[in-house]
Amino acid sequence: MAEANYPLLRRRLFSWFRRHQRDLPWRHSADPYAIWISETMLQQTQVKTVLPYYGRFIDTFPTVAALAGAPLQKVLRLWSGLGYYRRAENLHKAARQIMRQHGGVMPRAYDQLRALPGIGDYTAGALLSIAFGESYPAVDGNVRRVLGRLLGAKSNAEIHACAAKVAKTNQSGNLNQALMELGATLCTPREPRCVDCPVASLCLGRDDCGRIEPAKASTKYRAVTWPQAIVVYNRQILLRRRQSRGLLAKLWELPGAELAASATIAGTMAKELRQLQLGRAKPARLGELRHSITDRRILAPVLLYRWPVKRSAPVADPNWRWIAPAQLQRYATSSLTAKAVKLFLDYEKSSV
Ligand code: ADE
Repeated sequence: MAEANYPLLRRRLFSWFRRHQRDLPWRHSADPYAIWISETMLQQTQVKTVLPYYGRFIDTFPTVAALAGAPLQKVLRLWSGLGYYRRAENLHKAARQIMRQHGGVMPRAYDQLRALPGIGDYTAGALLSIAFGESYPAVDGNVRRVLGRLLGAKSNAEIHACAAKVAKTNQSGNLNQALMELGATLCTPREPRCVDCPVASLCLGRDDCGRIEPAKASTKYRAVTWPQAIVVYNRQILLRRRQSRGLLAKLWELPGAELAASATIAGTMAKELRQLQLGRAKPARLGELRHSITDRRILAPVLLYRWPVKRSAPVADPNWRWIAPAQLQRYATSSLTAKAVKLFLDYEKSSV
């Protein structure tokens, strides 16, 4: 599209966005902190998933100071089920850094934002444009697809250059959000609704989106088996906390592990539960769950071990804890743990 058409493109996007934008809670806020939280939650996550988490998070931590002053486990607990937990850890670290370096006020310079953990080019652009009214582009997956089709831009560099020019307006927050909204609602990856699109007459990709779809790095999933142990003693189950680095860092989980290449479920569980000295206890298989995280498609057999009643409950390790299943919400866990505990509770209910 010729640059001469950009003013018309912007006018049509603004007018469409005014009338058709979804009513989303962060759009009622001018608080850079709230916008930062929403943009972080919306990375790799759909709006409908984010909505309940956003409300709870802002109610619990209404300010940078409240977030910075909270223990990390509380932040992770509110994030439980949203996935990509590194985002929560980075928010917490960044909030502490904002307290130390910026007196608790979100900085409004690109370089200062980029220096905060978890803030990349996209989030910095979204914050500067939406929260501070600065002319910055914010290119996420939706915007990349929309601009790729609309402008016939192919490489990431070309798309970024176009995005920067299109965003040169005093309403770049609305402009960026209009592009995101178009990508989320009409200009979808498959079967875009060009007939309803406000900028179809300007679009190079109209009715031919496949041809100028920018190449997308497809996520490669690995199929893994990850058994989950429900160890029951005296109406309590055992949780343990994951180590502080790597996948699902610091979250609580049911004992278990991703099976190594030639490992068996029995061998892996014997190793994972070794310190419990369950002996040759043979577990009951309650069922199997399927769950995806980051780059794994997990098949999770749920195994029930009953603790031999005559021995007292062991495990002095502070990273292991007996809990009543009803207390699970007090712990930061991944959704897989929550699903496995629910399977156990349903099983208990059905077997009384
Ligand atoms: N995805 C990322 N940021 C968004 C926003 N501000 N509105 C809607 N969807 C989004």
